Amino acid sequence: MIHPDLDSILLTEEQIAARVRGLGAEISRDYVGKNLLMVSILKGSVVFMADLMRAVSIPARIDFLAVSSYGMGDKTSGVVRIVKDLDQSVEGKNVLIVEDILDSGMTLRYIINLLEAANPASVEICALLDKPDRRAPGVAVSCRYTGFTIPDAFVVGYGLDYAERYRNFPYVGVLSPRIYG
Ligand code: IMP
Ligand code: MG
Repeated sequence: MIHPDLDSILLTEEQIAARVRGLGAEISRDYVGKNLLMVSILKGSVVFMADLMRAVSIPARIDFLAVSSYGMGDKTSGVVRIVKDLDQSVEGKNVLIVEDILDSGMTLRYIINLLEAANPASVEICALLDKPDRRAPGVAVSCRYTGFTIPDAFVVGYGLDYAERYRNFPYVGVLSPRIYG
């Protein structure tokens, strides 16, 4: 049953679950024998993180980073601010950033620069969704693991919000323009 605030369901629970299992298997192979630290970017990636970490079969560490890049609306402000820093050092660790969606890329660009300054062994990105059409000019972000490449529509659910709502929906749906109009 689709909620009336949504125009359509883009990704069902089943589609997401299958893809997350695939990503987990890939990550487990790539990082075998390595010191893996999975860094979830709050709050959008919590649902993805909870599923992805259980799909990873090697012993991993986890941590959380909260940044604020968007206001209450649907447009990026271009300003990124650390709201909650990591609890543990990234020095010498293989950091895997777990993010909900790669949009303009400005948030991740900032986070990567920040982490790389702290001498990790490596920094890679795992994003559930990628909207390549939305990348800001001159912002280069290479995403090692992508769940789904999606068209330029505003989506909510599976952790993603509009003005802090809809994160709890178990699927990814296209928000009706009526809601943010
Ligand atoms: P970026 O810095 O423009 O790449 O923004 C990334 C952040 O913007 C994500 O972590 C989301 O919080 C938010 N965002 C971008 N697109 C969407 C969307 O379609 N739905 C919900 N949040 C989005
Ligand atoms: Mg958001």
